[in-house]
Amino acid sequence: MSFSHLSHLECGRCGAVHDSERPQNLCVTCGSPLLARYDLAAVRSALSPDDLARRSPDLWRYHELLPVRDPRAVTTLGEGMTPLLPMARYGERIGLPRLLMKDEGLIPTGSFKARGAAVGVSRAAELGVKRLAMPTNGNAGAAWSLYGARAGLTATIVMPVDAPEITRRECVASGTDLYLVDGLISDAGRIVGELVAASDGAVFDASTLKEPYRIEGKKTMGIEIAEQLGWRTPDVILYPTGGGVGLIGIHKALDELRQLGWISGPPPRLVAVQAEGCAPIVRAFERGERESRPWDGARTVAFGINVPKPLGDFLILQALAETSGTAVAVTDAELLAELREVAALEGAFVCPEGAAAFAAARKLRASGWIGADEQVVVLNTGAGLKYPGTVPVDAPVLPVDAHLT
Ligand SMILES: Cc1ncc(COP(=O)(O)O)c(C=O)c1O
Ligand SMILES: [Zn+2]
Repeated sequence: MSFSHLSHLECGRCGAVHDSERPQNLCVTCGSPLLARYDLAAVRSALSPDDLARRSPDLWRYHELLPVRDPRAVTTLGEGMTPLLPMARYGERIGLPRLLMKDEGLIPTGSFKARGAAVGVSRAAELGVKRLAMPTNGNAGAAWSLYGARAGLTATIVMPVDAPEITRRECVASGTDLYLVDGLISDAGRIVGELVAASDGAVFDASTLKEPYRIEGKKTMGIEIAEQLGWRTPDVILYPTGGGVGLIGIHKALDELRQLGWISGPPPRLVAVQAEGCAPIVRAFERGERESRPWDGARTVAFGINVPKPLGDFLILQALAETSGTAVAVTDAELLAELREVAALEGAFVCPEGAAAFAAARKLRASGWIGADEQVVVLNTGAGLKYPGTVPVDAPVLPVDAHLT
């Protein structure tokens, strides 16, 4: 019995086949991201949903659909199987009584980036990578640093100077070589690209979608949603979209589950949620374009989605088209107000990116794009605790002998 049924890598644009048994970056033919492909017929005969029910509650329960071949190569901090929570009071308020939140705040490192890091680091180490480098908006760099430390890899991380501060502390704590750049993630990407090019193969480029396995970790959000709903899918899934790996991954997962015969019916309509200060996907979607163009002056408090030109833009737009989905932008003021409403009505302190997805759900219900009786899943991609600045506090300080009567 194979632990993984990975068969090969395939270019997401030109379809060229690449060897999965050595470290790979972009397609050598066309420079696009590579996607992992599995022998799904073998998975179908080896595994049924009932078998999964007996496995541990983490993302490695889906190991046949993940790329790591040897169980001893798995680096885990217990990531996965995050709660899928009813949001009844808040849902009622915005006219979506069947609203659910997949809460990625409850995962090692406090963001869903742990999924991509667990699988990406495990596979990189299995293929002999010793040193990696990546640009990040914070959470991914923190996750790859920490998982890298556990796997014995060293990392160079470059992030914008205004990325969430806690993430740089996570990098430093894990012994990473950290640099801050007075610019955007795209500037960090250029710096990392040059470092990798000059390293003569010694440094592996682990940038978003420039290696094929981070997406495999993130796709487990989609598998979990289906499993948690009893191998059914919701009507709509809203996802705060920066690089778009989570959205592409969820789409890929649901495709694989359909081919396995584990789910059926129309796919959930996928919604790419962005901030008005950085909305290249929304603009491309509205213009009916297949790719995005760089967004000038990108800026939003939802820092994880501040990506001016995602490398996988064509895959995001394809996922929206194939699922009859849409793309929506919200303002920082809207998402910050939503963050407080979700906390006040549900006791969930979500990250600003997650709050953007809630604000988008409200908008799409108001416009009628989502019906009142539809089942909707919002991805809260991280813990609000990582962003203490989203809620200003002006509490009075009392003298020790004060009385509040
Ligand atoms: C909390 C959070 N949400 C969403 C995103 C966007 O992720 P993706 O690259 O999958 O679009 C990020 C990326 O940094 C993030 O940190
Ligand atoms: Zn190609």
